[in-house]
Amino acid sequence: MDDKLKILRQKRSEALLGGGKDKIAKQHEQGKLTARERIDLLLDKGSFHELDAFVVHQCDHFGLEDKKILGDGVVTGYGTVQGRLVYVFSQDFSVFGGSLGEAFANKICKVMDLAMKVGAPVIGLNDSGGARIQEGVVSLGGYAEIFFRNTVASGVVPQISVVMGPCAGGAVYSPALTDFIIMVKNTSHMFITGPEVIKSVTNEEVTFEKLGGAMTHNTLSGVAHFAADDEKQSIAILKKLLPYIPSNNVEEPPYAKPKDKPDRMEKGLVDIIPSDTNKPYDMRDVIKGIVDDGDFFEVHQGWAKNIVVGFARLNGHAVGVVGNQPAFLAGCLDINASTKGGRFVRFCDAFNIPLVTFVDVPGFLPGTAQEYGGIIRNGAKLLYAYCEATVPKLTVITRKAYGGAYDVMCSKHIRADMNFAWPSAEIAVMGPEGAVNIIFKKDIAESKDPEATRKKLVAEYEEKFENPYIAAERGYIDEVIEPQETRPRLITALETLLNKREVRPPKKHGNIPL
Ligand code: HXC
Repeated sequence: MDDKLKILRQKRSEALLGGGKDKIAKQHEQGKLTARERIDLLLDKGSFHELDAFVVHQCDHFGLEDKKILGDGVVTGYGTVQGRLVYVFSQDFSVFGGSLGEAFANKICKVMDLAMKVGAPVIGLNDSGGARIQEGVVSLGGYAEIFFRNTVASGVVPQISVVMGPCAGGAVYSPALTDFIIMVKNTSHMFITGPEVIKSVTNEEVTFEKLGGAMTHNTLSGVAHFAADDEKQSIAILKKLLPYIPSNNVEEPPYAKPKDKPDRMEKGLVDIIPSDTNKPYDMRDVIKGIVDDGDFFEVHQGWAKNIVVGFARLNGHAVGVVGNQPAFLAGCLDINASTKGGRFVRFCDAFNIPLVTFVDVPGFLPGTAQEYGGIIRNGAKLLYAYCEATVPKLTVITRKAYGGAYDVMCSKHIRADMNFAWPSAEIAVMGPEGAVNIIFKKDIAESKDPEATRKKLVAEYEEKFENPYIAAERGYIDEVIEPQETRPRLITALETLLNKREVRPPKKHGNIPL
């Protein structure tokens, strides 16, 4: 038996070394951790159970037959994060550049299947040169097996990707199919075709970082949701995100006992809306004034800044928060804001996370760029997502709620459960200038003093429509509240709605405008 134990122990230590000491040193030189160090950082101490540590590839082409490395370039298994079960795979760049072949893909598929069976999140730590070239179509098949599972698992268990190295070609589509992507600045890159191919096809010159670095995907493309300064911070972000999310779609999000009082009145909110209704303010100040301990965990912070989305808690209950952002593009809805908001709303709805929406929106952004880019189709995404969502939906109109954007931003008509408005709310088809210019065009033109007439009509319109009371008279607004009362009102409303059940007609799936 001693001999047999010796063999097992030898194999175990061989597996732990991955591609070997030199390759590990190279990884460290590049400012990157190894696949196992990343797992150690992620999981609770001593909780990791590795699977398939002795798996090797079965490829016998291009010299690979002589190079078999235990584990085949990906470390997989399960463990706990803050005591909660998660399944994890961590691509090991020290072994064949973390490239994905048949055995490698099978290992990832195994943990995904297990996660689906037991209802636990899947966390992927990505650092890979892509499809293992020597294995040819078999590695393409391996990717597709993963993509299929990503799609089947979508909305069933949370899937989170951390990109910590290269992620190129079709390989990007696995992270893209997951719920959140965290990228590390300077050391991670995602692109379909790299700088060299781009140069040869379009003659454009671009660096790896500019093409597919963390900031590119966090500010320009919207592909990634978070940018971390280093790997340690990327794991810290993941650990901040997980507690807001249930382990699967039949569980509720974890409750966290608050330090904050549920009946806290936030007096500062009274002065937050500028007296000039065209002046900006930061909607995040409103949100932070209301949620538990002022803790708002923003998602997609750098992209489509005219809408803010993120997680927070109300009296300990996790909520998804969406807010127009008057401090950026006046809070107008445009293509990117609609896509960002729509995706976040759908994530929350899929995972039983109630939605709280703060509205200050002058409308959809005008312009040919928006129309040609398909604001009709893209704006419909946010509308569709809100209509489709059956989680508790609470809305607070702080200032403007104009036109179609009033309807879209979780209005009563698309089945918000509780709609509040501050006295500063302005709910109308459009702003006073535009409205008067249209409906009184003739009267203004034919009057003796067109400018004076226009001014008078604008003032009349403002007095009549720039308030929440016409909507409140119809019951579209359940309650007009003082800003300082917002926290207690939202908490009471949310707690009455926690057992909400809303059933829609059965169907295979809807057809969200894509
Ligand atoms: C096999 C690979 C590999 C790959 C890297 N290696 N990528 N082996 N298949 N795709 C190996 C290298 O041969 C090398 O082996 C080791 O990994 C480390 O690679 P280096 O090039 O030395 O590292 P570095 O200089 O850091 O460059 C990293 C890199 C580069 C930028 C990722 O390796 C690279 O460009 N690789 C190819 C990327 C690529 O084009 N992949 C295919 C994408 S298309 P040795 O033995 O020398 O240490 C794709 C399609 C997926 O993935 C489709 C899914 C549907």
